[in-house]
Amino acid sequence: PAKITTQTVVDMKSKGEKISMLTAYDFTMAQIIDQAGIEIILVGDSASNVMAGHETTVPMTLEHMIYHTSCVVRGVDRALVIADLPFMSYQVTTKEALISSGRMMKEAGAHAVKMEGGKYIVDTVKRIVDAGIPVMGHLGLTPQSIYKFGTYKVRATEDDEADELIRDAKLLEEAGCFSLVLEKIPAHLAEKVTAELSIPTIGIGAGPSCDGQVLVLHDMLGLNKEFNPRFLRRYADLNSVMTDAVQSYIKDVKNKDFPNKDEQYGE
Ligand code: KIV
Ligand code: NA
Repeated sequence: PAKITTQTVVDMKSKGEKISMLTAYDFTMAQIIDQAGIEIILVGDSASNVMAGHETTVPMTLEHMIYHTSCVVRGVDRALVIADLPFMSYQVTTKEALISSGRMMKEAGAHAVKMEGGKYIVDTVKRIVDAGIPVMGHLGLTPQSIYKFGTYKVRATEDDEADELIRDAKLLEEAGCFSLVLEKIPAHLAEKVTAELSIPTIGIGAGPSCDGQVLVLHDMLGLNKEFNPRFLRRYADLNSVMTDAVQSYIKDVKNKDFPNKDEQYGE
């Protein structure tokens, strides 16, 4: 099947075709979801939580994002692979943002980068797009700003923040973003942004009107028992599947049922 490009996903919006996106952080998972037919794989800095066990995405480093992205890229034939730029790898100067984005493309093999924020990053976005690197934006509950927000609650429920979000979305489109993630904002606001932009919006906790949806893979597979936000739909209970498998193995080892005579080597 034909490879998905940034142009493919922009065209999907004009055709009214919904875009599916999931995260992955390693080769094996990336290979499974690519072969299942996902259009976009995000190497999210949620790797900080899911892979590294941190409480926030703030500690994630560029080196670790490059490592995760390179692992994912090796597992993918068809999907568009987008890599998150981690906290403080693009905010200080445009020059640093360009260097970080360039490393993500050259060393990790990403097809595009994603960064959080509105007005204050638009000049940087322009410069990166000019350099030939596609950029996905990210507005709403942007987890790298969690210490500013102080809460993971839904964003932009007040008019001021909603108006600012709409302005930021337009600025990001003008700056050359090919797509925009909207995280945890009211469904009617996401609907408005989606209608006003010609680039596709990808929602997480942003209602059904977005042009596409994204979830964290480990959450939608039910690997994670503790995380239960309203927007999360679980498509499997892999936590139970894995626990059962591991407990069966332990039992078989203890009972000397494993290995049996077909599972060993003779002379
Ligand atoms: O890091 C991540 O997984 C993300 C998505 C939830 C959009 O940024
Ligand atoms: Na992220």
